[in-house]
Amino acid sequence: MDVATVSSEPRASARAFAPGKLILSGEHAVVYGHPAIALAVDRGTTVHLRACAGDTRLEHSSIQDLRLFQALAAVLPPRGLAVRIESDLPVGRGMGSSAALAVALVRARARLQGREADFAECHREGFAVERVFHGTPSGLDHAVSARGGGVVYRRGTEGPRIEGLSLPPLRLVVLDSGSAGNTAELVAGVRARRPGIDPVLARMGALTRELAAELAAGSVDVGGLLDENHTLLQQIGVSTPRLDALVDLARAAGARGAKLSGAGGGGVVLALVKEAEPVLAAAAAAGVSAFPVSVHPGSAPPMSSEAP
Ligand code: MEV
Repeated sequence: MDVATVSSEPRASARAFAPGKLILSGEHAVVYGHPAIALAVDRGTTVHLRACAGDTRLEHSSIQDLRLFQALAAVLPPRGLAVRIESDLPVGRGMGSSAALAVALVRARARLQGREADFAECHREGFAVERVFHGTPSGLDHAVSARGGGVVYRRGTEGPRIEGLSLPPLRLVVLDSGSAGNTAELVAGVRARRPGIDPVLARMGALTRELAAELAAGSVDVGGLLDENHTLLQQIGVSTPRLDALVDLARAAGARGAKLSGAGGGGVVLALVKEAEPVLAAAAAAGVSAFPVSVHPGSAPPMSSEAP
């Protein structure tokens, strides 16, 4: 029997974790129906819910954001819960902190009811939280958080197409620009540059398909595709001098390839490396916060394709 359909007694408290994400390829283009590749990372957000008297209230949060109250209201009942939130994701850096919060909230809510939320519920309900933070998101971020592992995501007229992508062992280092990008504003900025930039978005889509094929074949020699992806992101106006400098720093320290990851305008650079140490050392010497990440396998049942 599917664990998601098993019901038991409601509980007095429940806890759930969901991972953050990095986009390997296709951010922004994914909003217009092109594919994107994202992976869940070994950092994320844990939500703890406890039944209590009175209005639902936030007891503690390591994420500081005024929109949190609206986000909680999107998926939790107005009365009867105390909420605690812990996250080790940098907030507003394109690593899916709001998506991880969305999925962890939906999972914890289900556990409080004595059941497990399945992928479809996490994706459907998590959207309400993502809209609070990002306006009109593609759904990519919380899909990969809910699914875990590697994902190829594509929007379609009949809902998203989400395919699991088994990834070769990728060595990844994240370099933090130290500032946050505003996803809703960046997506609006890209929209305003259409249709002039449509050929660039189309090339991003083709590049993402090439990358998916290489990764599926087990190749880690895909740095050139990441580098080209960064150039395309520059062309649609979402990179910054700081992000470009971090990309250059990673490449100079021997990375196979590097690109901004997420909406841009700040946030993080993702470097695909042969060895993490030289890139971490170069970042430290330049006063840049950097850390290695690995892929979070997730807990979703195996699937080749799923449309919620
Ligand atoms: C943000 O992590 C990714 C974007 O493509 C926006 C979205 O997919 O909703 C920039």
